[in-house]
Amino acid sequence: MIASWPMTEDIAHIHGYYSPNDLYNKIIDGLNRLGKDLSKVTLDDLQPVDEFHIRGDAATKELIELAEFTADMHILDVGCGIGGSTRRLSHETGCRVTGIDLSDEYIDAADRLTRLLNMQERVRFQACSALELPFEDNSFDGVWSLQMNMNVEDKQAWLNETYRVLKPGRRAIFYEVCAHENTHIHFPVPWAQDSSMSFLVPPESFRKIIASAGFEIAVWNDKTDLAQEAFANATEPVGDPNLPVLGVYLLVGSDIQTKAYNLRRNLDEQCVSLIESVAVKPSPSASST
Ligand SMILES: C[S@@+](CC[C@H](N)C(=O)[O-])C[C@H]1O[C@@H](n2cnc3c(N)ncnc32)[C@H](O)[C@@H]1O
Repeated sequence: MIASWPMTEDIAHIHGYYSPNDLYNKIIDGLNRLGKDLSKVTLDDLQPVDEFHIRGDAATKELIELAEFTADMHILDVGCGIGGSTRRLSHETGCRVTGIDLSDEYIDAADRLTRLLNMQERVRFQACSALELPFEDNSFDGVWSLQMNMNVEDKQAWLNETYRVLKPGRRAIFYEVCAHENTHIHFPVPWAQDSSMSFLVPPESFRKIIASAGFEIAVWNDKTDLAQEAFANATEPVGDPNLPVLGVYLLVGSDIQTKAYNLRRNLDEQCVSLIESVAVKPSPSASST
């Protein structure tokens, strides 16, 4: 699918990586093959394919606790993928969530899966770039962004935009892969086929960029150990891939086991780290004191 807004060449390159054909129907086909009744599909049924971040739904639930978002809020999910954690966030807290993503194929699947679960009243989606958000200043009661920064070269532009659309006094959640002590990354990885689409910075640099956008960092946790545990069993694939009926390979290709194995190597060899953070946009009264 071709995106309907003008794209720079670098963004088009990333868009191409996240553009499988006919994604929604492939997921429906998988659900049918698993014998699921399509009128009773649950969030848990979709979890193997729609939570495309390290530690999947377990991480989403921890982040929901950390976020403290409430039912009266409208949250922006930046880089929402096909909306697994977007829907989970709304389901657990009752909040409204708008998800945006670069990939119009993902947004199409996100929207149709949300209708399948009858959650469209509270969960909406829009295809656009995180670097140019089509929203007014101070529009959202919270921001939620899970493992998107790796594809963003201009992190300051992304974080400035995030800051702009967030209301003063409100919180942004970031759950992001960063660089580590060793700079040599094994490719491909789940977010990139090669180095031309991966832009990792060390945690301290990431923290400084968040602060330069104007945020105050309220929480900063290194989750690298948990990521290592989660990938400890990822082995180098041999022969034809033995893929489950539903999995994130539908999003980024059947070399997913090689990508998972390389992520394990990158974690073990201290080439990548994993950070969760809560960043607050100061309210005017707080910043003037
Ligand atoms: C690893 S996936 C994570 C998806 C989702 N947050 C989740 O946890 O399931 C990275 C996502 O970031 C999106 N992305 C990358 N660059 C982007 C940009 N500049 N603007 C919006 N989305 C972007 C990709 O299309 C992809 O869906």
